[in-house]
Amino acid sequence: MNDKKKQKTLLGFCCRECGYQSRKWLGRCPECGQWNSLEEEIMPATNIRGATTPATAQQPIALADAPDGDEERLPTTIAELDRVLGGGIVPGSVTLIGGEPGIGKSTLLLHMLAAVAEQQDDVLYVSGEESSSRQIKLRAKRLCAIHSGVYLVTGSDVDMVIATATKRRPALLAVDSIQTLYCADIHSVPGSVTQVRESAYRLIAMAKAENIPVIIVGHVTKDGAIAGPKVLEHMVDTVLSFEGDRNHAFRILRTVKNRFGSTNEIGVFEMKEQGLVQVANPSEIFLAERPLDEPGSVVMASVEGTRPILVEVQALVSPTNLGTARRTAIGADPQRVSLLCAVLEKKGGLDLYGHDIFLNIAGGMRIEEPALDLGVICALASSLRERPIPSNTVVCGEVGLAGEIRAVGHLDIRVRETERLGFTNFIVPQSGLDRLPKNSGIQVVGVSTVLELLEKVFS
Ligand SMILES: Nc1ncnc2c1ncn2[C@@H]1O[C@H](COP(=O)(O)OP(=O)(O)OP(=O)(O)O)[C@@H](O)[C@H]1O
Ligand SMILES: [Mg+2]
Repeated sequence: MNDKKKQKTLLGFCCRECGYQSRKWLGRCPECGQWNSLEEEIMPATNIRGATTPATAQQPIALADAPDGDEERLPTTIAELDRVLGGGIVPGSVTLIGGEPGIGKSTLLLHMLAAVAEQQDDVLYVSGEESSSRQIKLRAKRLCAIHSGVYLVTGSDVDMVIATATKRRPALLAVDSIQTLYCADIHSVPGSVTQVRESAYRLIAMAKAENIPVIIVGHVTKDGAIAGPKVLEHMVDTVLSFEGDRNHAFRILRTVKNRFGSTNEIGVFEMKEQGLVQVANPSEIFLAERPLDEPGSVVMASVEGTRPILVEVQALVSPTNLGTARRTAIGADPQRVSLLCAVLEKKGGLDLYGHDIFLNIAGGMRIEEPALDLGVICALASSLRERPIPSNTVVCGEVGLAGEIRAVGHLDIRVRETERLGFTNFIVPQSGLDRLPKNSGIQVVGVSTVLELLEKVFS
């Protein structure tokens, strides 16, 4: 077989978004439904082992005889970061940090590296992004993150990175970003699915073989997925997502996946001139600018992982001037808000028809848990009726389609946080009330339907 013919048989296509592989080009990926996302890639000529080497059998060990004991962790000493990592970095683990451009990924990395170098050995920072080490030093200087134990490599060849890390054995290897790396032996441009996947694969193999923890930065596409194939998220041990509204100073680091700790944990930071500053009491900051006795504003007690956070839910309901009413939700799921509007109309007797509805979670926070429902309902009703909700009141609870109010988890943590911040009235689902400790110092009121809720909140 001549070379040209051989090349042709090795050609395939791979979806940029989800990693789906196909022998022929398709306009639309059958796996994820994206249009025009298939790009050409060279498929491996042989299997990984090489076609001619026969596999050798391995001696399995009994699970009971496997070495045990807790994983020894490498704390970063940045409490908000350790929290999302589940207590620190696990040796040999690979962590992916995803986030939109300019959100502060490189900043976070520099803080982390300086903190680890402070108490551990040397660390290695690989930057394919910034062209010069002068640029990186300038930034590190502004962040006060210059430490003699932080070493720098600027380059994009993944094999060079691996060789450097294997030789120097840093306590931590940070790669900024995976989309800039390339494998010299693969004929595909940096940032393509093939390159991203293969680079990640080699880095992971190195991390496991050498027991060096690796942090990988990855860019995020406009709809929030980590650019490159979804398989990247499956390959690594931990996926953290760094989010926030560019117009707000708050940044939230969220655990999306963690093989060594719980998910749903969040770390809160504030972006300042001197870099990212930890926010230990997010509730206080999210509520700092809350208008008191203003219609359309209510405080809701949410729990992220094991951490309670009180946030302000704001709604603006006003008659529309256009043919179709607008419904916009920032920080909450717009579909969920539409559903709650329907419940309010049908079960709460409110007439939202012909009204523009805008909903916002103050401070750039995003809440996904259903306990937000009660906050949305109260804020909408308050704005429509032009009647404020008492400023000492906090709500939480899920709303069902029949207008019933359903129990939510971690009610005790929510009560404690509500009490700590000086609120005196807490409206919760009736069905979760008996599981609460009786000795709380605030008035906890149970409600079981939307009608009852509206009655109690405006009484
Ligand atoms: N002098 C400064 N003072 C205050 N904040 C700054 C200053 N310089 C940069 N920033 C903040 O740092 C952010 C850039 O952070 P960083 O470069 O770490 O982001 P990134 O996520 O790594 O971006 P990219 O994806 O482009 O690499 C800016 O958006 C800005 O908010
Ligand atoms: Mg960067």
